[in-house]
Amino acid sequence: MFFFSKNKPTLKDLIPQGHIDIHSHLLPGIDDGAQTFEDTLRLTKALQGFGVTQFITTPHIIQHVWENTHEGIVSKKTETIQQLAKNDITVPFNAAAEYLMDDQFVRLFKNQELLTLKDNYILVEMSYINAPIQLYSILFDLQVAGYIPILAHPERYLFYHNNFNEYTKLKRAGCLFQLNLLSVVGYYGSQIAKIAEELLAKGMYTYVGTDVHHDNHIKAFDQKLKLKDIQPLKEAIANNQFFKID
Ligand SMILES: [Fe+2]
Repeated sequence: MFFFSKNKPTLKDLIPQGHIDIHSHLLPGIDDGAQTFEDTLRLTKALQGFGVTQFITTPHIIQHVWENTHEGIVSKKTETIQQLAKNDITVPFNAAAEYLMDDQFVRLFKNQELLTLKDNYILVEMSYINAPIQLYSILFDLQVAGYIPILAHPERYLFYHNNFNEYTKLKRAGCLFQLNLLSVVGYYGSQIAKIAEELLAKGMYTYVGTDVHHDNHIKAFDQKLKLKDIQPLKEAIANNQFFKID
């Protein structure tokens, strides 16, 4: 037993039965996630195998790259739910979006209602190259419009790694943080794992997400955690119950 207790758990060991995933790319053919319904089915089943019993999938909305509309996402979701049901998958399956914070996003939330994860919570991301120049004004206006931003995978923005204060500043500006689960097994590299561990240790994450796009992401759930202390991760995972549909 000593041998086993010394071993670190794998990521899938940490996911409890009844987990709610709030970040994934499972709708087929509308972004860089699932390309066909067969992909959707395989990825959904794999996540169910880890313990996920409710999905809020989040296709990208990025100007000039993934120009998804709210209507397009909702109709793809309806079609997907019907196809999943034909394959005996009837768990709650909702769709919101992962909004890239750019000029188009500002026009969007000023002119129409956003697709929320729940209530007024929305998932946002930024470019991996740099933060938008007007980031803090976007965050301010977004909250004036009544939304609570949840920033996807803050640990993946390398331009913040040597400027940790920016994370504190983002939190003070009203951003909640969502950890990508794959960050803590080193899927995106050891530097990102290290920043994730630091943000976890400081209690800065509120929620977690799988951000599953494809089979390689699923395979990485078999990898071991790179964390010294897994308690903050367990707490962030448990917080996802907030999104439970009764
Ligand atoms: Fe994503």
